[in-house]
Amino acid sequence: MAKEITLRCPKCGHRPASKTIFYCSSCRCVLEVNVSIGHLTRADFEPLRQSRDRSIWRWFDFLPVERRSSIVSLGEGDTPLLRAKRLGEKLNIANLYLKNDTMLPTGSLKDRSNSVGMSVARELSFTTATVISTGNAAASVAAYAAAAGLKSVVMIPRGTAVSKILQARAYGATVVVIDGDFDYEVAELYKAAVEEFGWYDCLSSNPYRLGKKSYAYELVDQLDGRVPDWVIHPTAGGTGIYAMWKGFQEFVALGWIDRGPKLVAAQSDAAAPIVAAFEKGLNKVEAVVARETVAESIRVGNPASLGWRALVALRESNGTAVAASDTETLEAQSLTASLCGIFAEPAAATSVAAAKKLRAVGAIQTDDVVVCNLTGHGLKQPEAIRFAETEFVPIAPTLQALKDRVRQFADSTAT
Ligand SMILES: Cc1ncc(COP(=O)(O)O)c(C=O)c1O
Ligand SMILES: [Zn+2]
Repeated sequence: MAKEITLRCPKCGHRPASKTIFYCSSCRCVLEVNVSIGHLTRADFEPLRQSRDRSIWRWFDFLPVERRSSIVSLGEGDTPLLRAKRLGEKLNIANLYLKNDTMLPTGSLKDRSNSVGMSVARELSFTTATVISTGNAAASVAAYAAAAGLKSVVMIPRGTAVSKILQARAYGATVVVIDGDFDYEVAELYKAAVEEFGWYDCLSSNPYRLGKKSYAYELVDQLDGRVPDWVIHPTAGGTGIYAMWKGFQEFVALGWIDRGPKLVAAQSDAAAPIVAAFEKGLNKVEAVVARETVAESIRVGNPASLGWRALVALRESNGTAVAASDTETLEAQSLTASLCGIFAEPAAATSVAAAKKLRAVGAIQTDDVVVCNLTGHGLKQPEAIRFAETEFVPIAPTLQALKDRVRQFADSTAT
């Protein structure tokens, strides 16, 4: 049976005339892509689980790509789901798991989206891919464009540290610094450029970038068919929450699971428009001016494309939204590294900070199965690690000096 991939407006049901139109012509809403899965049966679950291909492409039937020959893959997906015993003890959550997406090819969750997005770009014959980003998306789009043989143009707001975009540059992207703010001037110029030059839009306004649905499939697989009680996801644009919800719903529709987990959006309190909208019971997200935060990768004040859909997913899954302060985020980052051996960037550690907060207020019960997505590698932002200047002052090459330094370190880090 041929795979059927359809674009439609989630608000008015309108269907566009072409596969390269991403917005509804009447309500300007970002279109939704649906993939027909009606041909799958109960018997298909096990063979898919056992497939030799361990990447997200094991779930090809669920992804909006027509031909396997179009696939652009760097081996993304099937990242470890680790039982975090020591961290779980600290947080009093007996069944705490960490989904370690720091291990994805470019070091962040963006690879799940861009592998799918770039495969579609090839099917639609685009030659240049573009994105606005201060780091992770830039690196990922640049890497997948390189693998696909497309050019990439990355737009970044002024003030972004050069070190943040070197990874994208290394993959061959054209990096353009723009004198403007991420959510406003840069976003405007980006839209205009996509239209004027016919570049392939790799933001969440691209309906095909639904690769984060693979979180749902992988979690069910890795938990041997069980569904976690909670999945906590560091949230900026809302793609992850929305895509996971869609993925779990697909498995429910097929009867492969009987319910989805409660989904939680973890944000930084310096840029928490989704938390604010959730708490106020709104149906759409009101833009905020994002403040500075250590959680740089999720510093988005205006999740215009998919914020409202993330809200639907949070509500329908009986989940919630939690904002973490920088102090809470850095503590979570440090605990995750020192108790589990996973170095996640601060933005990624907001999921662990949120788990701690939800446990503290009794929303998470001690025996609940809780998954925290760790969505980006700590080496993306090494300057977030706090240390005393004196720690790295060279010591005399003597055993006594070594003993003193080791003691000093133990004293200074004792809690
Ligand atoms: C490290 C990290 N975590 C999470 C996200 C979440 O994005 P989204 O809400 O679009 O899934 C991003 C991207 O912005 C990110 O870079
Ligand atoms: Zn519409």
